[in-house]
Amino acid sequence: MTTLPVVMASTPSTQRDDESLAILPVYKRFPVEIVRGEGSRLFAADGRSYLDFTSGIGVNALGYNDAGIADAIRGALESGVLHTSNLFHSAPGLALAEALVARSFASSVFFCNSGAEANEGAFKLVRRWGREVGGADKHEIIALRGGFHGRLFATLAATDRPQYRAPFRPLAAGISIAERDIGELSRMLDRETVAAVIVEPVQGEGGVRVLEPAFLNALRALTRERNVALIFDEVQCGLGRTGWLFAYERTDVVPDVVTLAKPLAGGLPMGAILMTAEIAAAVQPGDHGTTFGGGPFVSTVAKHVFDRLSDPALLARVRENGAWLGESLRALAARRDEIRAVRGVGYIWGIDVTRPAGEILASAREAGLLMLTAGDYTVRLLPPLIATREELAYGVDQLEKALS
Ligand SMILES: Cc1ncc(COP(=O)(O)O)c(C=O)c1O
Repeated sequence: MTTLPVVMASTPSTQRDDESLAILPVYKRFPVEIVRGEGSRLFAADGRSYLDFTSGIGVNALGYNDAGIADAIRGALESGVLHTSNLFHSAPGLALAEALVARSFASSVFFCNSGAEANEGAFKLVRRWGREVGGADKHEIIALRGGFHGRLFATLAATDRPQYRAPFRPLAAGISIAERDIGELSRMLDRETVAAVIVEPVQGEGGVRVLEPAFLNALRALTRERNVALIFDEVQCGLGRTGWLFAYERTDVVPDVVTLAKPLAGGLPMGAILMTAEIAAAVQPGDHGTTFGGGPFVSTVAKHVFDRLSDPALLARVRENGAWLGESLRALAARRDEIRAVRGVGYIWGIDVTRPAGEILASAREAGLLMLTAGDYTVRLLPPLIATREELAYGVDQLEKALS
């Protein structure tokens, strides 16, 4: 049994069923009101403290109350210019773009404000490129079974969640979903009509499925052969989550486009589209735009976060601790009938369970651990990338208690 100095108040957690309708109730919230955070720990209004294995759904890679982020924010305030619009040159956005380009396959970056926006923008850019190189019909986009790319119109059409899609039909046209099967993809990838395939190298919301390097290699070969762009949605699995700065670095596969968001600006809203020179060359002024994207304030903070997440020592720790977490979860699965399967890499893990995952989350909250689901029967762990081995071990202990 691993113990951590987690201070637990004796009061039961406050139920907040009385939620006001002032905020549109599209989320069923946990009955917890967060008031403070420190490291991997969150503190609630009722005095309880929790080990956080949600990271704000993959955002808070550097945990809470990080001194470096606080300094970067103070520095970003010094100019007095929070926003300028993209009509002006601005050094912080350029510095961030140059850092992303220097550290990746990409030659250009477009900044936006969220993951769905990054994917929507990527769809436009690959269509622009497709028509340029292949003619008017080359515009189709293919996504994968189990994928999640956002809930705006084009991204919803690429997101494989029937309950999210059904109320909003008709969905955006020219976007379809294929099985995770190279044979089917080969049949669907018509060089005249298909502009791009989008995949999450590690599917997050769809149950934490790590796409095999062999599958990604075969998909890369197929997309090259048919002159189809390959987009990696790294909104959840990118920026260190797998133990590699970019998830594509885990494999030999280099995509044409990568989308990023969640942890990029340390909790401030920001997304990015990274692309090759060939795709960038097809884009003309006016083809896409954003009022807020890449502003000086958010870019200054994001540059700090990106530099920290690029640290080889941090990435090596995520790989080592992540491998250890995987072994611990598999050992837990071997002694608990409630666990059917364990999947993951680095600091993203999915645990298939025999009981509704929501019930296990509720028991874990009582034990002081916050987790997520990824489907009705999958528990998902997204610890902050700064979580120590001791914190991971404590989390596994609490998860075991929650299973009982
Ligand atoms: C892989 C992936 N893509 C896109 C999105 C959408 O991001 P956002 O909620 O910032 O629009 C998410 C959100 O969970 C995601 O996990």
